[in-house]
Amino acid sequence: MSKQITVAVFGCGKMGNTIISDIENLPEVKAIYGYDVEQAQLDATIAAHEKVTKVTTCLDEILEDKDVELVYIATANEFHAPLAIKALRAGKAVMTEKPSGINEEQVQELIDVQKETGGFLQVGFECRYSKAYIIAKEIIDSGEIGKLKNIHFTYSMPPYPEHIKLADGTVVKNWRVSEETVGSMYLEKLCHYIDLVRWWNNGSRVDRFIATGADNVIPYFQIEDNVHISYHFDNGCTSQLYFVMTAAPGHNNDLLGGDDLFDQDKQGHKLNYVITGTEGAIEIDIFQRQIRVYHHPGKAGQVGESIKKVFSWDSYADGAGDGEKTYFHSTYAQNRDIVKRVIAGEQPAIALEDAQESIRLCLEFTEAAKTSKWKVIER
Ligand SMILES: NC(=O)c1ccc[n+]([C@@H]2O[C@H](COP(=O)([O-])OP(=O)(O)OC[C@H]3O[C@@H](n4cnc5c(N)ncnc54)[C@H](O)[C@@H]3O)[C@@H](O)[C@H]2O)c1
Repeated sequence: MSKQITVAVFGCGKMGNTIISDIENLPEVKAIYGYDVEQAQLDATIAAHEKVTKVTTCLDEILEDKDVELVYIATANEFHAPLAIKALRAGKAVMTEKPSGINEEQVQELIDVQKETGGFLQVGFECRYSKAYIIAKEIIDSGEIGKLKNIHFTYSMPPYPEHIKLADGTVVKNWRVSEETVGSMYLEKLCHYIDLVRWWNNGSRVDRFIATGADNVIPYFQIEDNVHISYHFDNGCTSQLYFVMTAAPGHNNDLLGGDDLFDQDKQGHKLNYVITGTEGAIEIDIFQRQIRVYHHPGKAGQVGESIKKVFSWDSYADGAGDGEKTYFHSTYAQNRDIVKRVIAGEQPAIALEDAQESIRLCLEFTEAAKTSKWKVIER
């Protein structure tokens, strides 16, 4: 029998429960403890999962418990960095959901405390574990589409609702639409896709950008309901990100919800990338469940603009635990990998400085969208 550890999950909402489901059948996980500020969330969590054997609203009870070796943090965004810092100082290995900081002070303090303690800290950028994005990375790294020149990203989803329901039916203001608790749309949602573009560009640095979003139209939103940003890497690649919450219907507020992807596609949901290189291009169309690879015409041995390769998946997919989400949202692969890394004493799969650079970009994009729209910012 391999080593077993006790794990704690801070924030037992939707994502906290997903994390528990992802790891609970690993033989390496002995028990899972839950911490939340809302007793109703804890009651629902302990009732839903056999391996959750203890829940508490007292943080210190978990921090002081020597049995707990690994903590996953899935609270509202503003608490991620402060809780991660407390957990690192208590000697726990930590996975924090993105964003790993909602201001520069939090971002830097987390780096400083990780260095000081030498603890394990991985940020939840599960797109780097997701097959569609890994396939694109392998094609890019193989040189098949040449040198990266442009990555265009389009994302369209329905707005976050103004209110959410807790497990006991209490209706509360949605923390996702309040600037104080979420930070910004860049931090809450778009950091994944900015991080992916950085990853595909293999560590090149963003050296300038321009924010050009429109004014908000959704009355209760304190954060951006649309985002348009263009940024440039020091390897010469440019990227544009276009995001709107105004042209897709439904309460099922993103692709993680229950509806079939093809049905959501017909309702206006979009999550598309066009990655253009000097020799060809890759198009990733999540709601069409396809990756298409093109070679540019006119090169030796290449005729016309035909599609050279198509990768597709169906709704059953071959993902072991998270179905087709294994292609675009594999928290399952990520959260299980983290348990195994911690037990083996390995480093996080994503270096903290690397993750924090994605978060810093989000902070700088947020600030530019507020105060310097249409101005090129050099960095
Ligand atoms: N990686 C991804 O793709 C992804 C997807 C969804 C959510 N998330 C992240 O996961 C986090 C949680 O999202 P969610 O959808 O589960 O939200 P949620 O509202 O369903 O759950 C949040 C939970 O945190 C609890 N909480 C809030 N403040 C707390 C605190 N200070 N201490 C302890 N518990 C606290 C709330 O009571 C609630 O139970 C967010 O940071 C979100 O960005 C990431």
